[in-house]
Amino acid sequence: MPVTAQGRALHSTSDEGRDKHVADLSSGTRLSRQIYQGQERQVWAAGVICLLVSAACLAMPAAVGRLVEALATGQDRALWVAVLAALAVVMGGGNAAYAAVVAGVAERHILRLRNAMIHRTLRLPVRHVRRIGSGDLGSRLTADTMQLRGSLDIGLGQLPQAVLMVVGTFAAMLYLDPVLLGVTLTGFAAAALVITWLYRGLQRSALEHQQHLAQAAQGYAHALSALPTVKSLRAEGHVDSALNEMTERARRSGVDYAWRQALLSPVTALGQQLSLTGVIVVGALRITDGSLDLAALSAFLLYLLQVVTPVSVVAMGLGRLKAGLAIRGRFDEILRAPTEEDEAVPSPAATDPVRSDPRPAPAVAFHTVSFAYEDTPVISEISFEAAVAGITALVGPSGAGKSTLLKLVERFELPGSGQVSVRGVPVEQWALPELRRQIAYVDQEATLLNDTVRNNLLLGCDRPVTDAELVRHLARVGLADVIGELPAGLDTVLGQGVELSGGQRQRLALARALLAETPIVLLDEPTSQLDSLSEDQFRRILEDLAASRCIVVVAHRLSTVKRASKIVVVDAGTVVGEGTHDELLERSDLYRDLVNGQLLSGLETETTRAA
Ligand SMILES: Nc1ncnc2c1ncn2[C@@H]1O[C@H](COP(=O)(O)OP(=O)(O)O)[C@@H](O)[C@H]1O
Ligand SMILES: [Mg+2]
Repeated sequence: MPVTAQGRALHSTSDEGRDKHVADLSSGTRLSRQIYQGQERQVWAAGVICLLVSAACLAMPAAVGRLVEALATGQDRALWVAVLAALAVVMGGGNAAYAAVVAGVAERHILRLRNAMIHRTLRLPVRHVRRIGSGDLGSRLTADTMQLRGSLDIGLGQLPQAVLMVVGTFAAMLYLDPVLLGVTLTGFAAAALVITWLYRGLQRSALEHQQHLAQAAQGYAHALSALPTVKSLRAEGHVDSALNEMTERARRSGVDYAWRQALLSPVTALGQQLSLTGVIVVGALRITDGSLDLAALSAFLLYLLQVVTPVSVVAMGLGRLKAGLAIRGRFDEILRAPTEEDEAVPSPAATDPVRSDPRPAPAVAFHTVSFAYEDTPVISEISFEAAVAGITALVGPSGAGKSTLLKLVERFELPGSGQVSVRGVPVEQWALPELRRQIAYVDQEATLLNDTVRNNLLLGCDRPVTDAELVRHLARVGLADVIGELPAGLDTVLGQGVELSGGQRQRLALARALLAETPIVLLDEPTSQLDSLSEDQFRRILEDLAASRCIVVVAHRLSTVKRASKIVVVDAGTVVGEGTHDELLERSDLYRDLVNGQLLSGLETETTRAA
């Protein structure tokens, strides 16, 4: 599968077959490689600072000893006071600098992760993004990265220092008495067994907690987007308790995670108690048989007491790191998902795009196309063509599959079988941006971005456009006055206090489609919210356009349909009639029903909306 540059920087593929422990390790090293990439200097700096601070820590007791000596003998007092002050500055300043460098490294990693995720989600198939949900994805970008940041703070910051301290102390203990060190390690090993078991639950509950948070965020985002409906149905209480159930689940998994994390510390302490008891018993025996002296035993015990804090920091730090790795998996899920580009495998039937037909290729052609959403068949064996110029109208009852046909042309979805071609080339053989450069698409909702009127108009337009031209196009769709009266005209940001009506949105989306000057225009019920005056205007625009471009329009209005050069009647995912208005009135029962039942005059939409 092709991977984008950002995606590649963030993950390399791992062999699924290896056992879990090795996989854990490899994801750990992979993570650290990703973190350090491009930040080598900062990591070196952190390492040097860490060593300096540890050295200062270790030197401190010796320096105090010298000062005490100097005080007793009356020599070099000032020197040792200065040394002590310098050590204190190195420790304090070093710790602060270390924390700052580590924060910088961690934040940069999070930044890369966030940007890679944004980059990837924008290139995933629409259906995949919808399935996960915007609330969930938003939660990954915020809550999950916050958790990960916490894990990195400990993993990159406190963990290395603690490991250094543990190793240093164990080295000193080894020097003092290897037998007692063996006893100590046995005690800690017993604790490590329990801790390893705790880690497994820790990873699981950390992941569950983030999933529950994301579900709550998703439910919340969904409820807010449906707020007017929720209110009009007086369903606030119902939605409220549904969301509360989700937040309650997040609380439970949060507590579950917290107690597992909290157990790490007492279990480590228990290991220390075991070691301590063992060391005292074995130490006493060895003093009795004369192989150890009291001074060595006391020093050893002091070290044992001292090592307990860094050992428990290591245990906690590894726990947080493991939780972080589990959460990291939620990003990999997105970063590894196939993009739209990855999905299009050229169909075997399409390897020879040369047509035997000498006529110019139609702008859009469906050839025995079938399609299903998941397992629900929606389109079955549909064939029709739309000419290079002229209006092709798709009509049929709602749910027939008209919008789905337009999605197949845009390659939002790929056909299960058969072939959709644009300008004679199967859609999966087009480079995606090239394919979409051929097409202007106005969807059913006439979606506008949360941006200025000007930027909304210029999206999808590759050439420079003057304001005068923008205004001319706005006038063409009857919007020049409306936009002129907005507080900042073309620079007004839509969606921030300035809302356009449904009809106005449709007109703006139409102006955008006009500006893009594409050879193909797909319109999905573009008149559903227009009044009859602008409907007239709309018809004139369509006729202008149709002189030189291919217009495929899902239409509900008889006025639009009558003027189409070709009408395709769709019912339950099949084509049941094809021809002009007059031909179809004669030939197609369904078309006659649609016309008689005024399904095409817009009444259907109005009644459905009122219901
Ligand atoms: N994203 C989707 N997932 C699953 N089913 C869908 C999806 N979109 C549409 N459908 C179903 O596919 C059928 C055709 O839908 P659509 O093409 O929107 O019909 P039309 O535009 O003719 O009203 C309907 O039964 C609809 O419920
Ligand atoms: Mg539709």
